[in-house]
Amino acid sequence: MIDIMKQKANEKFINLFHARPIIIKSPGRINIIGEHTDYNDGFVLPASIDKAAYLAISLRNDNEIHLRAEDINEDFKTFIDDLKPAKNSSWPNYILGPVAQFHKKGIELKGFNALLTSDVPIGAGLSSSAAVECATTFALNELLRAGFQKLEMIKMAQTAEHEFAGVMCGIMDQFASMMGKKDHVIKLDCRSLDYEYIPFKFDGIKILLVDTNVKHSLASSEYNARRKECYQAVAWVKEHVPEVNSLRDVNEEMLDKYVLPKNKLIYKRSLFIVQEIKRLLAGCEDIKRGDIYSLGKKMFETHDGLSNMYEVSCSELDYLVNFVRNNNSVIGARMMGGGFGGCVINLVKENEINELIKMIQPAYEREMKLPLTRYVVSIGDGTEQLWVD
Ligand code: GLA
Repeated sequence: MIDIMKQKANEKFINLFHARPIIIKSPGRINIIGEHTDYNDGFVLPASIDKAAYLAISLRNDNEIHLRAEDINEDFKTFIDDLKPAKNSSWPNYILGPVAQFHKKGIELKGFNALLTSDVPIGAGLSSSAAVECATTFALNELLRAGFQKLEMIKMAQTAEHEFAGVMCGIMDQFASMMGKKDHVIKLDCRSLDYEYIPFKFDGIKILLVDTNVKHSLASSEYNARRKECYQAVAWVKEHVPEVNSLRDVNEEMLDKYVLPKNKLIYKRSLFIVQEIKRLLAGCEDIKRGDIYSLGKKMFETHDGLSNMYEVSCSELDYLVNFVRNNNSVIGARMMGGGFGGCVINLVKENEINELIKMIQPAYEREMKLPLTRYVVSIGDGTEQLWVD
């Protein structure tokens, strides 16, 4: 697949712009456990997948930026001295956002042509936007010889999402896209940004994503609202325990004492985060011991917390998780990503995947009146330049 996508990006670019591009591949991501913990200074456990954005790009001799989204047949043009979020479509922002970060850091910009093609499903919670932001940042770092290290580029891509897409995301998606490693998950400490690669490959077990095909419009406003609720809980605890700076520093006893009396809803939200950080740490130990069943159980617990306490699930996601809850072929399942739609991640016995799909697909389509899309994904490498012969 990589070769096909690479050739496509290369050939389409040459036909359109009559120049030779460099090609950067940057993948989408999954997250095994640890949801909504990144902006609370907690841990996450993502991995990059074998679906990616491919950006073909080369510099121009003027100050124009010409963009092409090959998959949707759209073009966009602007100038390096007129960088602002596009209004009528969102995809240019995932490229323009990173460009603006180079400018802010004092790197002298040049005009460029770029062509984007991607096989990361859009709106599925697989970070198709972070993939484009990371590809663009990596590409400009090469072309402008800016010399930023990967960690700096990850932060630039994250800020691009804040400023040009308006979602106050944490660092997980951009980190996973840029730093992914084949057959490994990344245990990332979102406070120190220390990370550890943990091998994630179990005989006879595959990662199956089932996509609800819904993206409720609540997604970004509710995301930003959850973030504020968590920060409010921290502020209340901090009045009594000044050394606390995030929910990472908070325990259940503090929540009982200082948050519960103030507000039940905010208590519920912050309790989920405190429990989720603990659950993730225990889940990493499960993986290291090879105890995938114990991990799977925790994935279901995470789902229930996201659904009942953090309240970022929806009926379509709950339906899919409940469908497999007592199915012996499924070791663990939960909604993944920000919520309000997107995918459920399942750890499934490989030789039972087809049977499972035969049951779940018609049932979902009948009950939810929506198509169900599914992907068996494997864990691949992070952002890289591809070479064309
Ligand atoms: C989105 C954000 C991430 C993270 C997840 C929830 O994917 O971009 O930073 O907060 O939601 O875990």
